[in-house]
Amino acid sequence: MHRIKFSAGMEQPASLSVRSSLKLVAVFEHPTAQQAFDGSSLRALSQQAEFSEFRGQHEKTMLVFPHSAGEAGGAQLLYGLGRWESIDISRLRESLIAAFKAAKKSGAVDLVLVLPPLAGSGISDQEFGESVALIATIVDYEVNHFKTAKGGHKAHKHFKSVHVTCIKDKEVRSGMRAGQIVGSAINNTRNLVNLPAGQCTPEHLASQARELERKAAGAISVKVLSRKQCAKLGMNAFLAVAQGSTVEPRFIELTYEPANAVSDVVLGLVGKSITFDSGGLDIKSAGGMRDMKCDMAGGATVLSAIGAIAALKLPVKVKAFMAATENMPGPRSYKPGDVIEAMGGLSVEVDNTDAEGRLTLIDAIEYARRAGCTHIVDLATLTGAILTSLADVGAGLFTNDPVWAQEVKASARLADELVWEMPMWAALKKGNESQLADLKNSGGTFGAGSSTAALFIAAFAQGIPWVHLDIAGVAMRGRELGADPKGGTGWGVRTLVNLARRLSGK
Ligand code: BES
Ligand code: ZN
Ligand code: ZN
Repeated sequence: MHRIKFSAGMEQPASLSVRSSLKLVAVFEHPTAQQAFDGSSLRALSQQAEFSEFRGQHEKTMLVFPHSAGEAGGAQLLYGLGRWESIDISRLRESLIAAFKAAKKSGAVDLVLVLPPLAGSGISDQEFGESVALIATIVDYEVNHFKTAKGGHKAHKHFKSVHVTCIKDKEVRSGMRAGQIVGSAINNTRNLVNLPAGQCTPEHLASQARELERKAAGAISVKVLSRKQCAKLGMNAFLAVAQGSTVEPRFIELTYEPANAVSDVVLGLVGKSITFDSGGLDIKSAGGMRDMKCDMAGGATVLSAIGAIAALKLPVKVKAFMAATENMPGPRSYKPGDVIEAMGGLSVEVDNTDAEGRLTLIDAIEYARRAGCTHIVDLATLTGAILTSLADVGAGLFTNDPVWAQEVKASARLADELVWEMPMWAALKKGNESQLADLKNSGGTFGAGSSTAALFIAAFAQGIPWVHLDIAGVAMRGRELGADPKGGTGWGVRTLVNLARRLSGK
């Protein structure tokens, strides 16, 4: 993966020429362009700004070439921060997204940012540095395509370097290190979600986990279970889903338990890892199946997040779990009407083989419980119904513990990732009632499909603080949104990293 060279300090890297680099300058919004630039070195630009109607509006940018106006200096990109009274870290990040997108469009590869005058805004230099590196990294992302030069593809122009000019550089630098770690984890998630199901198999996810173990040099340990080993443990719900595919399933467990962990909390991250969801015998329509390589996005997110948490050396114990398999129709497939005894001891009637995610999650959650997790967050592209409620904009949050949910919500807010709590009304459990078994795996035509799915999982998370994030709408989008390109988004990595930070008191 491409790595940008980040730096901070008074002197910009000597190799940068005025000609090749683009300087990004923040401007607060004022009623007129003249006022916006008054007293600053940018005054000479106010005429062009007036012409372009740029006066520092939030998310607006203007590219200028002072030397063409007979002045010294190279190209500059002015980006609006909006009004001083409304600045906060989220608004600043939105401005930076607009700025880096404009910089990318300009074709510039070496960027220099002047530290904006943020004293009194509540935004620290550390936060600015982290936001710059994170956003530069995720805006610079190029989809992992298979286009060739022979086919006429021209190589993507990546950002080479990003420098922040500042006097006190320690905080900015440490923020930049963190931002690059989290940004790379997001890009890694996007790559896995975009990777075709033919390549992104359960074994591929396992090899990614082992690769992380190697890179983390002792900080992360990985355990991978085969179909046979899962059978021994009684993971019948997971294996029922895996039955239909000749591609071998894998149960993947990653452990990060630093010696300096500040508490006994063991955070369990469970990610839905269906590498392809055809629907099984209850087969999907062609349109409904088209993008189902994305059905392992939850797994890719927890994998990348635990990697980032370890790289940041956060003093908190974390485990990640992925019950990875395809969901395929075939002579061996599990069938509608089958009854399975899940690892957690409850019996489940298969009402619909396309409601496979919840079956794999309940065994993963039971495994996490036995592995000593004290708190659980699962991320799953679980229901099409969540798109009806929240579109591709936010994730649905479901919980059995309001206090734990508050932690996750606060972490998401700090990440600028939208979550909305959805009902877990007892009366909705009716949808999961089965004549033959303790539960059935689909609410059928009962309605409230995202809630009945969550209530099904809740039956297996009893006694453990648990939050379920339904990311079916946000994990992969058919359009560009904010810093996310079309395709895999890496949604959730930031929320999970922030959660680990909160739990470790950082
Ligand atoms: N993987 C799908 C959900 C999904 C839909 C993810 C759209 C991403 C985008 C899930 O396994 C599924 O098929 N759910 C069914 C459940 C139903 C059969 C009870 C659904 O939502 O239709
Ligand atoms: Zn399905
Ligand atoms: Zn699915």
